[in-house]
Amino acid sequence: MKDRRGHLIVFEGIDGTGKSTQISELAKYLTGQGYEVVTTREPTDGPYGQKIRQLYTDRTLCDAKEELDLFINDRRQHVNEVIAPALRKGKIVLSDRYYFSTAAYQGANGCDPDEIFKANSFAPQPDLMLLLTMDVEQSVYRIKKLRGDEPDHFEGVEYLRKVSVLFDSFTHPFIKRIAAASVPDKVSSAIIREVELLLRGTE
Ligand code: TYD
Repeated sequence: MKDRRGHLIVFEGIDGTGKSTQISELAKYLTGQGYEVVTTREPTDGPYGQKIRQLYTDRTLCDAKEELDLFINDRRQHVNEVIAPALRKGKIVLSDRYYFSTAAYQGANGCDPDEIFKANSFAPQPDLMLLLTMDVEQSVYRIKKLRGDEPDHFEGVEYLRKVSVLFDSFTHPFIKRIAAASVPDKVSSAIIREVELLLRGTE
């Protein structure tokens, strides 16, 4: 991407791993260090993101290819309207999910993960991908007991097991795996360590 000056840090992992808590902790930390931070997420709140949220309760509303297209269209808009402009301004962008979620979740739904990566080549490569890891059983327990939610159509155990295997298979050099089952403070410290290494290495 031309004129890119900022940093793109994305959080990935199966549902229930505590991504949103960790993102807000990291945003607080970085803001305290004087960085300009943009926190964002996928699916977005835009038109495609809203359609995607309807699928949470009824995944039969579209077939696997249509579902994949919705996520990719949502991301294209997200990149053009939020991520790329913020990177051009030199900001640190923290995104809750990115194209690895598409490769893992839609990959687990029958699409080819390599094709999915190719279809996302318009999206800037992250500087760091923090993959929050946890046993699938524990993540589902968290969704049910701690969030008080029933797992939705994207959160069944068997499905998440396949998603988790795909996340485990990704070997991009900018991926750092963070064990997310320990206490939140320890997870935050591990994340900050990785982010500091990135920022010190590139400034
Ligand atoms: P989640 O981060 O849980 O957002 P919300 O706060 O809206 O529940 O993501 C919603 C679900 O969307 C999650 O189960 C993963 C799924 N998802 C995909 O299947 N493909 C994708 O490309 C993305 C970004 C998310």
